[in-house]
Amino acid sequence: MSTAFSPSSLNPSVLNVQYAVRGPLAIRAEEYRSRIKKDPHGHGLPFDQVVTANIGNPQQAGLDQKPLTFGRQIAALLEYPPLMDSGKSLFPPDVIQRARELYAEIGSIGAYSQSQGVPFIRQNVAKFIHTRDGYPSNPSDIFLTAGASAGVSLIINMLIASPSTGILIPIPQYPLYTAALAQHKGVPIPYYLDESNGWSTDPQDIEMAIAKASGQGTQVKALVIINPGNPTGAVLRSSTMQDVLRVCERHNLVLLADEVYQSNIHDPAQPFVSFKKVLRASNSPVPLVSFHSISKGVTGECGRRGGYFELVNVPEETKALVYKMLSVGLCPPLGGQVGVDCLVRPPIPGEYSYPLWKEETDAIHSALASRTHIIATRLDALPGVSCVAAPGAMYLFPQLQLPDAAIEAAKVAGHEPDEFYTLELLDQTGICAVPGSGFGQKEGEAHFRLTCLSAGVEEYIGKLETFQRSFWKKYGGELAKA
Ligand SMILES: Cc1ncc(COP(=O)(O)O)c(C=O)c1O
Repeated sequence: MSTAFSPSSLNPSVLNVQYAVRGPLAIRAEEYRSRIKKDPHGHGLPFDQVVTANIGNPQQAGLDQKPLTFGRQIAALLEYPPLMDSGKSLFPPDVIQRARELYAEIGSIGAYSQSQGVPFIRQNVAKFIHTRDGYPSNPSDIFLTAGASAGVSLIINMLIASPSTGILIPIPQYPLYTAALAQHKGVPIPYYLDESNGWSTDPQDIEMAIAKASGQGTQVKALVIINPGNPTGAVLRSSTMQDVLRVCERHNLVLLADEVYQSNIHDPAQPFVSFKKVLRASNSPVPLVSFHSISKGVTGECGRRGGYFELVNVPEETKALVYKMLSVGLCPPLGGQVGVDCLVRPPIPGEYSYPLWKEETDAIHSALASRTHIIATRLDALPGVSCVAAPGAMYLFPQLQLPDAAIEAAKVAGHEPDEFYTLELLDQTGICAVPGSGFGQKEGEAHFRLTCLSAGVEEYIGKLETFQRSFWKKYGGELAKA
């Protein structure tokens, strides 16, 4: 029977939303974690620790990324302003000066700010973008948000004009996009990244996806690009970005550029270039929304919920509507806005806080790059696994060649093959990964996504290797690597 608040009585689009990163595997991992905590010696599991490799949450318990000292000192002073006077022996002079400057602009962080975000912080974001790209940015085009997710969801909501509005989504993708489309009743139009070519983006494939969707009556409205990629770690070349802009021009598309991993670059030969820069360099009229966040990079402050988006080539009337929609939510969290200021205005050489900031950020960059490299190389060497190297972001998306017997066992257990694999991995090793189906993959393929944030990489990869070898043997795979 349908009662007033039972699932069957609700907005059906809520039932259609899927978000694998926090799906059934993560829930089972949480159960194991609390079992171990409750009874460390009698939990009965074949491992003593759950390894969180399912979500890009760098400061999560069990991972070793510490918050950057500079950002936390600023946050502490704004949380408790009397410390700006009484804490002179605890806080460096440049931090106190910066906190005073922010306090003069913001006042109490317990108050609402402007819905678009504190004007002074938006000015600093605009300066950061100008310095990064060499092209000016206008603070009135910057909208601070509660993480990039809030901005993505708002923009997708605004773009879906009718149930036949479609948005091009890379496959594999970060599931925020399909979730937002399901919620706001738009059509996800997949285009496939090329695994055999380093998970590259092929503008021809995007053209084909547009032609197919248009032929089926879908109004193609926007294109999502995630650069650097999640879950692939691929980094786009400028030439591909130019081609992507031409596709948008030809088909009158809005470009949604998710650039939250812009500072997670492991290979200097493949630098990050923003879409704003490529767009300005080629004088392109494509409407662009570019997203950034304090959750990733070396900041890793996911829980503070800070981010922004920049609107480029967007009509003033539309900007006013974006503002109106944001004002319904009053304002983004002030702690997150302060985090954005620290992201775009880190200490510079000559300032007291610079040496420590440099040491901390260098250590995070190099640990992530070396773990990503080690895990990719060792996974790729295993029988039944191939793993494309990731020059950016914080993930790997290895492909599994599953023996027929494993596929049959998955069927019997009532799971998709990749889900079956990741459940066995969790049950036997405590490693919590995410099945590839949560991000999308070609029909008949099986992948899983791993984060490269976990400390103790040797132990972790060792467990993965042992598991894969025994899984492979158990289900009758060939022992030598093909
Ligand atoms: C590609 C991508 N975009 C957006 C987000 C959302 O980040 P935020 O914490 O800023 O909402 C994530 C989070 O993992 C992501 O991977």
